Amino acid sequence: MRKRIVIKLSGSLFGLEDTKTLKQFAEFFVKISKICQPIIIAGGGKIARHYILHARSSGADESTLDEIGIEVSRLNARLLIYALQDNAYPHPPTNLKEVAHAADSGLIVVTGGLHPGQSTNATAALIAEKVRAAAFLNATDVDGVYDSDPNKNKSAKKFKKIPLRKLRNMLAHQDSVAGSYDLMDIVALKVIERSKIKTRILKANIKTLEKAIKGNPEGTEITLT
Ligand code: UTP
Repeated sequence: MRKRIVIKLSGSLFGLEDTKTLKQFAEFFVKISKICQPIIIAGGGKIARHYILHARSSGADESTLDEIGIEVSRLNARLLIYALQDNAYPHPPTNLKEVAHAADSGLIVVTGGLHPGQSTNATAALIAEKVRAAAFLNATDVDGVYDSDPNKNKSAKKFKKIPLRKLRNMLAHQDSVAGSYDLMDIVALKVIERSKIKTRILKANIKTLEKAIKGNPEGTEITLT
């Protein structure tokens, strides 16, 4: 059996005005599916945050806002499924059992969020656990984990590896409200820890993903010690 690789794809890829980028990713996933089975989780991106902002200002409760984020991430998943055509399982699974079933088809699986109260990163970690993935690649709009915000601090240093405990401490102070879960949330870290999932945070571009899958990775590895 081909090894399964779980890839969280940043929602930022789906909000782009150009229609080429997503097709290029689809071509890449088809190519790479000869050596592994990609299981992809689409993020919600700006569009999710836009809807969440509007609904919050109308007084919607947090779990409803999460549901909105999930719906948008599923729409994003559909966009990638259309681009993948027959190479993809035809619709985004809506729970972990369905993900496992879809993965058993051997096709590329694309899903959005699954459950309120968490981010697509947590969902991706749970999926990696469920399908016994060889690795979880969190492809995001930054190229790794830094010791401070690289946008604000020019001398910020990128970690090649970061112990999970240290990352948990760094993230402990972030908000946990709809639309604003960060790089990893606490649920994601718990799942990675309990099932010892090989996890890496890296830039969401094709070259970087290809290198990671072929064993020459960039970004930041989360270590369990
Ligand atoms: P994300 O915030 O995870 O997507 O999902 P994103 O935009 O891709 O994140 P980044 O920018 O790449 O890190 C959008 C929103 O959908 C809800 C949450 O409110 C989340 O903020 N969501 C998503 C859930 O409630 N449950 C899920 O399983 C997934």
